[in-house]
Amino acid sequence: MDESNQLDELMTCRLDTGRRVVEPCSIVIFGASGDLTSRKLIPALYHLYRDKQMPPQFRVVGFARREKDDASWHGELRQALEQFSRTKPIDATVWDEFSSRLSYCQGDLTGPAAYGKLEQLLASFGSAPLRSNLLFYLATLPSQFGEVAGRLHHAGLLHREGQSESWQRIVVEKPFGHDLASAQALNTELARFAHERQIFRIDHYLGKETVQNILMFRFSNSIFERLWNRESVDHLQLTVSEKAGVGQRGSYYEESGALRDMVQNHLLQVLSLVAMEPPVSLEAEAIRDEKVKLLRSIRPWRAGEVGRQIVRGQYSAGTVDGQSCPGYRQEPRVKPESNVETYVALKLFIDNWRWAGVPFFLRTGKRLPLSASEVRVQFRPTPNVLFAAHCGPKLDLNALTLRLQPNEGISLRFNGKVPGTSSQVRPVRMHFSYDATFGAYTPEAYERLLLEAMSGDATLFIRRDEVETAWSIADPIQTAWDGRPLTNRECYAAGAWGPVAAEDLLALSGHAWRNPQLGEPPFVFRHAVGP
Ligand SMILES: NC(=O)c1ccc[n+]([C@@H]2O[C@H](COP(=O)([O-])OP(=O)(O)OC[C@H]3O[C@@H](n4cnc5c(N)ncnc54)[C@H](OP(=O)(O)O)[C@@H]3O)[C@@H](O)[C@H]2O)c1
Repeated sequence: MDESNQLDELMTCRLDTGRRVVEPCSIVIFGASGDLTSRKLIPALYHLYRDKQMPPQFRVVGFARREKDDASWHGELRQALEQFSRTKPIDATVWDEFSSRLSYCQGDLTGPAAYGKLEQLLASFGSAPLRSNLLFYLATLPSQFGEVAGRLHHAGLLHREGQSESWQRIVVEKPFGHDLASAQALNTELARFAHERQIFRIDHYLGKETVQNILMFRFSNSIFERLWNRESVDHLQLTVSEKAGVGQRGSYYEESGALRDMVQNHLLQVLSLVAMEPPVSLEAEAIRDEKVKLLRSIRPWRAGEVGRQIVRGQYSAGTVDGQSCPGYRQEPRVKPESNVETYVALKLFIDNWRWAGVPFFLRTGKRLPLSASEVRVQFRPTPNVLFAAHCGPKLDLNALTLRLQPNEGISLRFNGKVPGTSSQVRPVRMHFSYDATFGAYTPEAYERLLLEAMSGDATLFIRRDEVETAWSIADPIQTAWDGRPLTNRECYAAGAWGPVAAEDLLALSGHAWRNPQLGEPPFVFRHAVGP
């Protein structure tokens, strides 16, 4: 490590030294035979255990209908870990110790009998905290979330906060409802059995390092925040693109579409962190208060505006990475005449003092040329004198890009002189790369989220009013689309950056999408300055 790195290391300020200790507890996963458990949850818990972040005593109980015993469940999980672990090879000793704490409980969560069985299993655990500090992780069908909470409560396993010495919490997977009314109904149902402080609604984007870094970047530096407003920012672009199509998730996607699957949660979450006001403290409620306030400041769409400010799209057959791909309507379990959107681009305004008049452009889609998530803050042009007077629109605008994934990092783009005897100006870039600075280690989002849920810190989870406000933004868009067939202009070939209408959406105000680049972007602008 060189001298300046050592100094930087000495300047590291730990914020979580006062974090609550993770108390001994049992984690009960409903949906233990499912995809999420084997791909994300068990690998996350294994890594937390390997990194000595689990409490000194813990148990994991897997609950599902399929017949298995502990040994066969362990065997399946071990195989999945080989495939999905972020570290390889799997440490056999660590796995043996970890898996000795994993038990399978077979049962149907729609009937009372299985909860008796679960109660007996929990009662057999050695110490009181393992029997009564309980984290219930709902990784089942979304329609079952409310029922499980109710049955746990009636079985005496889930108590409202304050009614016992121990704690119980519920982690609820997404999707949380499919519109405002269903989200409100689910919230009301959960609130009958648990206090809001016991309910941890997941948006795994909030577990990502780069998404958490948005707040640190904005509020632990003095130089950026003073530019973070309508005086300096021309517009902002948020892109979450995926190369993959719907794959085997056709039946889920037919009920959801990109608006519900991505915009209502991940995109609005990132937007709220990027655009919110400074919170009064780093407490969970202070941060969540500001996020909700920001969401409430988004200008509602008036009748007729959805068609002008929001573009949907659906991929048709095309080529991604040189491979031909079927169109969405040809994917398994998708209706041949489906109108479900696989792409959304929208323009929105935030009607508050900081952002009045600044357009925010958000887009997400499947079967786009590459998988990347980034926020690009485009600054205003310089006055039209000196270099701008010579170069005109060819003088590139300053931009700050927060690359959320992959190649996580932050880039600042500005103009500089090309060395030489002639006067040429071209964009150059200052870049911070997570990998180069901190090494390639990045914990999976679910590791952080599980740890926070065990310790009872709700900062990275969605509050009731937050999820409902986000639905109230998405609902009018869905309503405007319902029953309106997709037009040709709303289709895009797999491998393109979305439908033509999405380009037009920005062109109308003189803007253009800046597509994420993989690796170092080749700068193509070379502008001669002067006569
Ligand atoms: N997979 C992902 O990457 C992902 C990402 C984001 C969110 N999610 C959310 O996470 C949840 C789980 O997703 P998944 O992909 O893991 O689903 P999945 O593979 O279909 O698994 C569903 C699980 O629920 C269990 N289950 C269903 N009905 C049951 C019943 N009556 N009694 C007991 N167990 C029952 C199933 O067990 P049996 O079949 O053995 O009964 C299975 O273990 C969903 O809410 C999903 O939206 C998943």
